[in-house]
Amino acid sequence: MTAAQDDAIRLFRSLTGSAPAGVWSAPGRANLIGEHTDYNEGFVLPFAIAQRTFAAVGPRDDERIRVASTFSDEQVEVALDELDGLFSGPAGEAVRSGAVAEWAAYPLGVAWAALAARPDARATGLDIAIASDVPVGAGLSSSAAIEGAAAGALSDLWSLDLSLIDMAKIGRRAENEAVGAPTGIMDQVASVMGRVDAATFLDCRTLETRSVDLGLAGEGLALLVIDTRVTHAHSTGGYGDRRAACERGAAALGVPMLRDLGTDDLERARRTLDDETFRRVRHIVTENQRVLDAVRTLDASGPRAIGDLLVASHASMRDDFEISVPELDAAVDASLAAGAIGARMTGGGFGGSAIALVERAAVDAVSRAVAAAFDAAGFRAPHLFTVEPSEGVRRDA
Ligand code: GLA
Repeated sequence: MTAAQDDAIRLFRSLTGSAPAGVWSAPGRANLIGEHTDYNEGFVLPFAIAQRTFAAVGPRDDERIRVASTFSDEQVEVALDELDGLFSGPAGEAVRSGAVAEWAAYPLGVAWAALAARPDARATGLDIAIASDVPVGAGLSSSAAIEGAAAGALSDLWSLDLSLIDMAKIGRRAENEAVGAPTGIMDQVASVMGRVDAATFLDCRTLETRSVDLGLAGEGLALLVIDTRVTHAHSTGGYGDRRAACERGAAALGVPMLRDLGTDDLERARRTLDDETFRRVRHIVTENQRVLDAVRTLDASGPRAIGDLLVASHASMRDDFEISVPELDAAVDASLAAGAIGARMTGGGFGGSAIALVERAAVDAVSRAVAAAFDAAGFRAPHLFTVEPSEGVRRDA
């Protein structure tokens, strides 16, 4: 049993004086390639990581739901029939007004969205104790991990019989409407669907998925995460601005979504759009193509062959989409200079983490080179650790 699972059970016991009915968990994620394409109904190729969030849960004999977590000393308790009043207003209002702490809006938002998806469910009150070893603020979707663990627990305890895609949709609704972050569905799908040594290819229009073998173990490769420790929040600022620019670009070009454009359309886009909107559009169009190329390359030639695609993806985010920061660029440049096969920022940008694909034997040398580059640039020391593509949502006990 991992420390976080143990912590969740211990927290549940201190809350209720008894053992939980069960423990469910879901992982964080990193994205191999395909950034900001999800809300444009494009393609993504993320993977679940081994770090997980655990929810120890048990039924109550009233109709209240109480959440506690190791993130906060505060517990939050609401009646099931109050959830709708809390979350059905303007997106994120309950959090902004202080009615619900942000961390609690994830599990409570999942309960709200699950009840909305299954109005006939026979829902009982619940106590939920949450603990996690997914780093928070590192761009590794600690939020999707909470949503996945909560959705797994509710599916079983309320007999909702949710499919993995249902769980991802419920998690995304919680994130968009309860927490108020205007994200796509990539993180939730990545978290629930993960498989060992594989990434999940997702068509964000049809929600069709395919597990794509990465073959890292066999090739002696590792994925190194470089957490810049520059924090970001997608409920404010740049993330929403980029989303708005994509919507503007699609409208000006007469398509429902940027997914509907291919690289052949870029010349027309250049003539039609202002330079900034054009570059935003070019990132999405070329990134969709890179995801398709990455899947084909992994299938045909294995993970060593995708390095250039990772590097091109980073350049596009740095120069066209403009969501990188100097620390992320330094992480990518230093790891490539030290011999990484490929590297790119991962996730929403404006901080968070980069990933580098490296020989297992070179992990220490690349880590040292990145740390030295950060030191020389006067940046805060990064956190460096490897991640293993791992299993998605599950019941642990
Ligand atoms: C965040 C969002 C995702 C996705 C990425 C960028 O992680 O939660 O939906 O848009 O940014 O690819």
